[in-house]
Amino acid sequence: MASSKLVLAAIFSASLCFTAALAFPDHHDQGAYPVGQSPKPVLSPDYYKATCPQADEIVVSILKKAIAKEQRIAASLLRLLFHDCFVQGCDASVLLDDSEEFISEKKAIPNKNSIRGFEVIDEIKAALEEACPHTVSCADTIALAARGSTVLSGGPYWELPLGRKDSKAAYMKLANKNLPPPNATLHRLVKFFERQGLDKVDLVALSGSHTIGMARCVSFKQRLYNQHRDNQPDRTLEKTLYHTLASVCPPGGGGDSNLRPLDLATASRFDNAYYKLLVEGRGLLNSDEVLWTGGDPEIAGLVRSYAESEPLFFEHYVSSITKMGNITPLTDHDGEIRKNCRVVNKNAV
Ligand code: HEM
Ligand SMILES: *[C@@H]1O[C@H](CO)[C@@H](O)[C@H](O)[C@H]1NC(C)=O
Repeated sequence: MASSKLVLAAIFSASLCFTAALAFPDHHDQGAYPVGQSPKPVLSPDYYKATCPQADEIVVSILKKAIAKEQRIAASLLRLLFHDCFVQGCDASVLLDDSEEFISEKKAIPNKNSIRGFEVIDEIKAALEEACPHTVSCADTIALAARGSTVLSGGPYWELPLGRKDSKAAYMKLANKNLPPPNATLHRLVKFFERQGLDKVDLVALSGSHTIGMARCVSFKQRLYNQHRDNQPDRTLEKTLYHTLASVCPPGGGGDSNLRPLDLATASRFDNAYYKLLVEGRGLLNSDEVLWTGGDPEIAGLVRSYAESEPLFFEHYVSSITKMGNITPLTDHDGEIRKNCRVVNKNAV
């Protein structure tokens, strides 16, 4: 049943290619290669066809159990792909715990007390090791978990290039440098994405990941009390939402880890409601709302287009998340296949 749904989704998106291509003719590149990196198109959707054909099935079956237990875990797993790929490429560096050689990326400011889903990744990886020992990398495990979580939340399916290897180090400082903060201006958000070889379409489409999941008060409270360092709220924030958020995130302080849905309309469904909310001034993070209010006509135009057309959003999302998933992967002997995603293999040189 699940697979027939996927096939339908694939046919549906393929048939929409035309409309999307007409409206946005320049968005057909597949890989993202930041300046200075030579393209190495070595990832392939068939990478495990001979060595672990059941890999995706294993991932999806564990995801189903995990999501039944806690819906939000789908969002947390999708976010892991973003936080992995923006830091030295999609190499599972985000999964490593502290070691004698390096400090974990889990301690970087954007990740601390925030990033989650590691136990589910461990469970998936253990099942993959059991079925196909030393075959599926942790980086591919993250990518498969992100796609499965998106599909199981009602979002689009995409053909996923595989064959990434795992890093032998974590890059805490780079995580602080490369992961955008929620109070970033639109100009800076564009710069963060450009640094990864991603464009404005990618920024707007991938921000649509905030159609699922939650944020802590500390991630949006500047908007309530001190938006421009002037002790005033963000005037673009819709009034009713302002009052709700102020009760979750009180003016006197405290409650920093209280949670609100990023998409208050359909928090656990992957749909285009996120963009409809932005147009109404009901985006949760500053980085969400500025896509609409930040004064860039191309970006605001994309927000409106996605608010009006979920198929167009899905079409662009598939293209952009494929690009993000292709950011400077380690291939062949550049990396390894970790046995335990939290630690570098012992015999590694
Ligand atoms: C455009 C720049 C982005 C910024 C500034 C940003 C920032 C944030 C912040 C601050 C949170 C809440 C964290 C917390 O309070 O604990 C969050 C959650 C989330 N982000 Fe982003 N994000 C961005 C782009 C993305 C992208 C590209 C993706 C995925 C491809 C993504 C996926 C998610 C998901 C799914 C959640 C919810 C996680 C959960 O509930 O555990 N975000 N993001
Ligand atoms: C964003 O928040 C950080 C940490 O609170 C602060 O230092 C910085 O000035 C803020 N940036 C903007 C643009 O408000």
